[in-house]
Amino acid sequence: EKGTYPHYMLKEIDEQPAVVRKIVQAYQDENDKLTIKPEILEAMQAADRIHIIAAGTSYHAGLIGKEYIEKLAGIPVEVHVSSEFGYNMPLLSENPLFIFISQSGETADSRQVLVKIKELGHASLTVTNVAGSTLSRESDHTLLLHAGPEIAVASTKAYTAQLAVLSILAAVTAEARGLDIGFDLVQELGIVANAIQAQVDSKEEMEQIATDFLSTTRNCFFIGRVMDYFVGLEGSLKLKEISYIQAEGFAGGELKHGTIALIEEGTPVIALATQEAVNLNIRGNVKEVAARGANPCIISMEGLQEEGDSLVLPKVNELLSPLVSVIPMQLISYYAALHRDCDVDKPRNLAKSVTVE
Ligand code: F6R
Repeated sequence: EKGTYPHYMLKEIDEQPAVVRKIVQAYQDENDKLTIKPEILEAMQAADRIHIIAAGTSYHAGLIGKEYIEKLAGIPVEVHVSSEFGYNMPLLSENPLFIFISQSGETADSRQVLVKIKELGHASLTVTNVAGSTLSRESDHTLLLHAGPEIAVASTKAYTAQLAVLSILAAVTAEARGLDIGFDLVQELGIVANAIQAQVDSKEEMEQIATDFLSTTRNCFFIGRVMDYFVGLEGSLKLKEISYIQAEGFAGGELKHGTIALIEEGTPVIALATQEAVNLNIRGNVKEVAARGANPCIISMEGLQEEGDSLVLPKVNELLSPLVSVIPMQLISYYAALHRDCDVDKPRNLAKSVTVE
C-alpha cells in the first residue's frame, strides 16, 4: 500500500535507508558478523571467472557489482546484457560462475541464458527480490535482496539493495579467500544508510534541480568516470523511462570523441564527481561541455566539492558511493516526470517484469 504517498516510486525511494539496514541484519550471524551460505562461498571460490547477467537497472547494478567482486575478492568478472549473451556467447573459461541479477526473477532474457549455461553444466547464483521466482528456482543458489515488494515500474530500492547485497557477497568472499578488504563493511553500510536518509530528506533541493535543469529541455546528458559513469547510466535510464526526456549516460572522457557535438546552448549535463582519483578529470570534462554552452549540474561528495556544485553528498566509502549518488538521480527524475504530468508509476510502453524475450 502506498499510504499517504502520491506514488509508489516516492515511497520506494524513501524506503531505501531501511532497506540497507535490513539487508545488513539479514546477512549478519548471531555475532553480528556478515555471513553468506557456505555453498555459495564455495561456488565463488571455485570460479575462475564470474559472468554477471542482467537487464536494465539490474545490469547497471551488475556493472558496480563487478567492481566490488574484482576489487574486494580478486575474482575477474564480466558483465553482460542478458538479451545478447545467449546469442553471442564469449569464450568461456573452465569453471565460470554465472550470477543472475534480477529484481523480479522473471526476466525472460535472463532466463534464456540460465537455460543455456545449465545445458553447458555451469554453476549459477541468482540475486533476486522474489523468493520462489523462476530464476531463483532454476539456479543452483539464491541470494535475496530483502527490499520488500517493488511496485513502481521504475526500479529504485531494488537497485540499492542489489548493490548492498553484492558488496556483502564480495566482502565475505574476500574474507573466505584470506583477503583483508581494509574496512568494516557493516559500519560503512550504516554510514551509507544515514547518507541516503539525508538525501531522501532533501526533496526540495532535488525538486529545485529538476526545475532548474530539466523543466524545458528535450535532452540531457549524465557524465561520470569509473563508478560515477555507471551511476550516470542508471540516472539516464531513470530519467528517460519516467519523464520521456531523451537522456544518455556517458563516460566523461569519451564525450569529446563525438558525442560532444550534441551539446548546445543550455543542454543540461548532470555530472557526478564522487571519486577522488578522477575528480580532476571529470571537472575537466565539465569545463569542456560548459565551454560549448552546456548547463552543468555537478553532484559531488564532501571532500571533493568545489564552489558552484549543485549538490554535495555526505562522505561515504568511495566504493559504496553509488548507493548514495543514485538517490538524487532517482529523485530528480521523479520530479522531472511529475512536472511533465507523466504517469510516474506506470510509464508508457513499459511493464514491471519483462517475461518475453
Ligand atoms: C528500470 C527497470 C528495468 C528492469 C529490467 C530488469 O527501472 O525496472 O530496466 O531493471 O527490466 O528487470 P529485473 O531486475 O526484474 O530482471
